[in-house]
Amino acid sequence: MSTEVQAMPGTLLACAAGEGMRHVLMANATAVIMPTSETNLLNLLIVDDERSMRESCREVSSSLGFHTQVADSPEHAYHFLETNPVDVVLLDLRLPGSNGLEVLREIKRRRPETLVIVMTGFATVQSAVQAMKSGAYDYITKPFNFDELRMVLERSTAHLKLTSENRLMREQLKSRNGFGSLVGHAPEMEKLYRIIAKAAHSSHPVLILGESGTGKELVARSIHYSGPYRDKPFLPVDCGSLVPSLIESELFGYVRGAFTGAVRSKDGLMATAEGGTIFLDEVGELPVDLQSKLLRAIQEKEIRPVGGTRPVPINVRILAATNRDLEAAVQQGSFRRDLYFRLNVLTLRIPPLRERAQDIPLLIGNVLERINAATQTQHTIGDDALRLMLAYNWPGNVRELENCVERACTTCSFSTIHVADLPTALRNFQALPKLEVQGAEPDTITPLDQLEKQAILRAIDVLKGDKLQAARRLGIGKTTLYRKLKEYGSVI
Ligand SMILES: Nc1ncnc2c1ncn2[C@@H]1O[C@H](COP(=O)(O)OP(=O)(O)OP(=O)(O)O)[C@@H](O)[C@H]1O
Ligand SMILES: [Mg+2]
Repeated sequence: MSTEVQAMPGTLLACAAGEGMRHVLMANATAVIMPTSETNLLNLLIVDDERSMRESCREVSSSLGFHTQVADSPEHAYHFLETNPVDVVLLDLRLPGSNGLEVLREIKRRRPETLVIVMTGFATVQSAVQAMKSGAYDYITKPFNFDELRMVLERSTAHLKLTSENRLMREQLKSRNGFGSLVGHAPEMEKLYRIIAKAAHSSHPVLILGESGTGKELVARSIHYSGPYRDKPFLPVDCGSLVPSLIESELFGYVRGAFTGAVRSKDGLMATAEGGTIFLDEVGELPVDLQSKLLRAIQEKEIRPVGGTRPVPINVRILAATNRDLEAAVQQGSFRRDLYFRLNVLTLRIPPLRERAQDIPLLIGNVLERINAATQTQHTIGDDALRLMLAYNWPGNVRELENCVERACTTCSFSTIHVADLPTALRNFQALPKLEVQGAEPDTITPLDQLEKQAILRAIDVLKGDKLQAARRLGIGKTTLYRKLKEYGSVI
């Protein structure tokens, strides 16, 4: 049986027809609905098996400023939730072949922070009450019209805005300068924060790459503490410092009698981190036999404690880091290719400090603030020291900078840090080759415009042709750089 409804602004988006529900697409919905400017671009997922219903809700929500996606089955929705940011789910409680309340609980289990609005029929108001008890944020009864859907979506927007403001305040308390406790505003860091925010809401492994001291562990912590399971454990494991023969029992635990001295069973780190995150630092150091066991744990989501006969299911997020060239290790056969691909679903590359020199003053300020607060002092940085620190290449990255400032605070005679208070490595560092002043012949003097040309061409060469970055590093505008290149007759 079919029911035809002429759709007009404000008419029903869904209407009851006998036992089942029949949904009617609202005609020219986009033409009649004005986007509300105060609505932010939130991510909405519509879960409904009926195409027309999905599409009509999508039109309304998109016009309200939601970034909307649809799913026609719970499986599709779960899959989507695994990999995408979702703020609000509009869930039909009557999906064929599934129990709507179960689906709701599963969504909340996977994404506790997501608001779920359930759609119920008049005949099933009772289930709306049950749904609210099971964690639904709101409900809407079918048939509903545009205004009703708009109101419920706007309520959810207001709620999310308040929650995110509260969260922001919490984050700001942690650090006033960056993402979580990460400091830095360089474009590369801003990009990193965006990826961290995305990674925090997925459950895939993340491989964090970066030179020593760039903040790999801090990034791993940020991913964990910005995600929905921040109340669960975050367990860092330094694969490089574990005794090789003990790594397996440390990671996977053991059962009583597994070896001499195993007088009772013990959970491993994987089991201890249940529900949370395990951070495998220096993962490149894992012995090859352990690599296969780790691969199995990730793939099967279960572990086998040492001496145990039965596998134990685990639910833990894996983050891994290394400053080794894992790809080269794979080529040499010291790191399993399949594990590399498993860990490498998402890769985060932290730039070395020398590539984001603009963050150096902020980082120095951050360390000074911490030291001053802890020791009730008023240390500041002198211009001379700051200039040298800006020019230095920081092979040990942020850790080296922290050590340098901490050391300078303890050795400086007054509260201002000068070049003399900095470590030898910095004092010996020369950003530019020494000018031969004494005994230089007049014809060895290079005109300034030639020096400038050399500096510009060298910067472009070093930065592999990235002119924008070159302009930034040289401290000139990109228009100036392009003008100069034109003057040199370079191909732009
Ligand atoms: N962006 C940042 N903002 C503030 N502090 C940072 C930042 N990056 C790193 N640090 C600090 O630098 C130090 C080194 O960071 P971390 O231990 O995370 O580096 P890492 O990459 O894991 O180093 P390694 O490879 O040596 O293990 C820590 O004290 C950390 O707090
Ligand atoms: Mg580390």
